[in-house]
Amino acid sequence: MTVESQAVASKLSRAAIFLVATLNEGEESLDAVRAMCGDLAGFVRAVGFRDLDGGLSCIMGFGSQAWDRLFGAPRPKELHPFREINGRHHAVATPGDILFHIRARSMDLCFELAMQITARLGGAITVVDETHGFKFFDQRDMTGFVDGTENPVGRESLDAVLIGDEDPAFAGGSYVIVQKYLHDLKGWNALSVERQELIIGRKKLSDIELEASVKPSWAHNALTSITDEKGNELKIVRDNMPFGTIGKGEFGTYFIGYARSPSRIERMLENMFVGNPPGNYDHLLDFSRAVTGSLFFVPPETFLGAAGPAAQSSATAKPV
Ligand code: HEM
Repeated sequence: MTVESQAVASKLSRAAIFLVATLNEGEESLDAVRAMCGDLAGFVRAVGFRDLDGGLSCIMGFGSQAWDRLFGAPRPKELHPFREINGRHHAVATPGDILFHIRARSMDLCFELAMQITARLGGAITVVDETHGFKFFDQRDMTGFVDGTENPVGRESLDAVLIGDEDPAFAGGSYVIVQKYLHDLKGWNALSVERQELIIGRKKLSDIELEASVKPSWAHNALTSITDEKGNELKIVRDNMPFGTIGKGEFGTYFIGYARSPSRIERMLENMFVGNPPGNYDHLLDFSRAVTGSLFFVPPETFLGAAGPAAQSSATAKPV
């Protein structure tokens, strides 16, 4: 059987909704979520077809405990709860059983799909975090820097995110870590542009990477560039999005990183929060506080389609 992956390596979009939910008690909640797994592709087709150029996609991921409740054995080899880090800065672990990462060219499509999904799931889940992300000028995040430049593309991105022979039962799946960061923009904007560039490791206006002779070992892009024992770069695919609420003075970056192993992202986090070597930490964190942190497994689309009672329900599924 050919294994189809979910749209983990799809193009970065202009709009996104990140929904993190917990799974409620009771067998009926489990049945409702399993049915949703099978119906999801139909929902995306139904909403997406209304705007052919809209590029709507939705990725569904599952936390470690939810996996056991919903699907049991076998379980993906590296699936575990998000591990909090107490280093120079604190990476919190927060509840999250199910992730919906909804992307499109415009927010109407994302919003409609999120409404349809949550209406169908009803009391089966409780949404614990909902973030609406948007693209900012020139793909910049709220710090004013272009974000996403060094993402792998094409074959390299598939190789970075899709599980292969290392876990044959779940080949074509992926892992994803999300963290919601709030920025102290006042503090950040009080820094000189030169200081900000040292912290990120790139030029602010042109987005050109700083030369090795001037880039500090604690620059964000130095601490997040990691290699295996043979010196090969270990890449992840990010689709960070700015978000905010002007009236509350809340300005943030929603970090989302996909990888074929969560250990890649965990090593980057360790380098950022503890430092490499310890103490040589990421100064972006002096101005950016992680307020959520969760890890999910993203099964192949083929697995979702075959999950639970979906096969029967999808024939009759009608979005509300
Ligand atoms: C690079 C911003 C959190 C991993 C970058 C760049 C920016 C940026 C501006 C340079 C341009 C680019 O290549 O994309 C941010 C912000 C964050 C954040 C504002 C949150 C406050 C994270 C986290 C991770 C991460 C939590 C991983 C755990 C990376 C990687 C690169 C990168 C892998 C590319 C490094 C390279 O190969 O040059 N980030 N980032 N970032 N970031 Fe982040």
